[in-house]
Amino acid sequence: MIDSFKQLQQLHPWPDVSGLSAHNFTLGGGGREVIEREIEKIRRTKHGTEPIFMVEIGCFMCASTRRWLAKFDTLHIVGVDPWPESLKEQVKKYVDRPLLNRLYPHAEDQTRFVEDIRNQGPKETGLANIQAYQDRFIPVQGYSPDALKGIADTGFVPDLVYIDGAKQPEDLEGCYEHWPTAKITGDDWHWGRNYGYPMRKIVKKFALKNDFGIEANWATWVLHKDQDSSLLIQAAHRSDLFKLQALATRCHKNIDFEEKLGRLLVIYDETNLIAAGSVAHSSIEMTLIDPLFESRAAPLLLTALHATIQS
Ligand SMILES: C[S@@+](CC[C@H](N)C(=O)[O-])C[C@H]1O[C@@H](n2cnc3c(N)ncnc32)[C@H](O)[C@@H]1O
Repeated sequence: MIDSFKQLQQLHPWPDVSGLSAHNFTLGGGGREVIEREIEKIRRTKHGTEPIFMVEIGCFMCASTRRWLAKFDTLHIVGVDPWPESLKEQVKKYVDRPLLNRLYPHAEDQTRFVEDIRNQGPKETGLANIQAYQDRFIPVQGYSPDALKGIADTGFVPDLVYIDGAKQPEDLEGCYEHWPTAKITGDDWHWGRNYGYPMRKIVKKFALKNDFGIEANWATWVLHKDQDSSLLIQAAHRSDLFKLQALATRCHKNIDFEEKLGRLLVIYDETNLIAAGSVAHSSIEMTLIDPLFESRAAPLLLTALHATIQS
């Protein structure tokens, strides 16, 4: 694998970014600790020493990239982003908005941010932010999903994929087609409330089609196969589903249900997936998702599930 990483390094060399200004500005939402938990799980399976490989789709200023690289010294990332010239205009929209205000409270720093991206270039400014990790990051300037094929053609197989790009189903499909063993994760779960949360729809449709459970935590989502489950609860009869629904609804007013017979049941509140499982004619297998225990509804729902199963 390290050979294909080296091959990709030669195909996509870094520009000279020495002396450029870096801006560790992210557009990402919350919940990224879930990604770190997944990387940590992979790190342990690799005995803490072997390289871990990741593909990140949508790097922007490489702030998320930097976060992962700083935290895991065996992590190697192939980042895909077109870094288009249009980002020079786009970043002007962030001036005096909450995200940029948080990073740069002073107006002159925000002006410098916009000017640096204009003068240095979006890609170069992004790479300046991870200059310290040059040997562990490869900038693939291009569009997903097309660019994924070129990466896969070298024999490169990531352990994990993080999707934070154009919010399109093709990113998930392309990753799964090229790298069926990779953990698929991403951002934007809570993006676009006024448009009906488009990324949620994409992720849910993909998960249903390919038998994945979804874990969502703020903006972050992770797809799990059933064997990843931390806790399996067997319900005795399918009719329990309806008891469960009634109980859970009493626990938390925003709980919503999706059911597809023989496939997947997910229970989620506005931002967090609470439980996922499969529904068959005579049984329900529910998997409670880890962060559930930190969610407001979780202890109540857990009690409700136990009560249901014992009744
Ligand atoms: C929300 S930003 C990424 C933020 C970054 N992950 C972070 O947290 O700091 C989205 C990025 O996706 C890139 N992008 C848009 N379409 C893309 C595509 N088809 N493939 C890869 N990247 C894309 C944009 O250029 C932009 O830099």
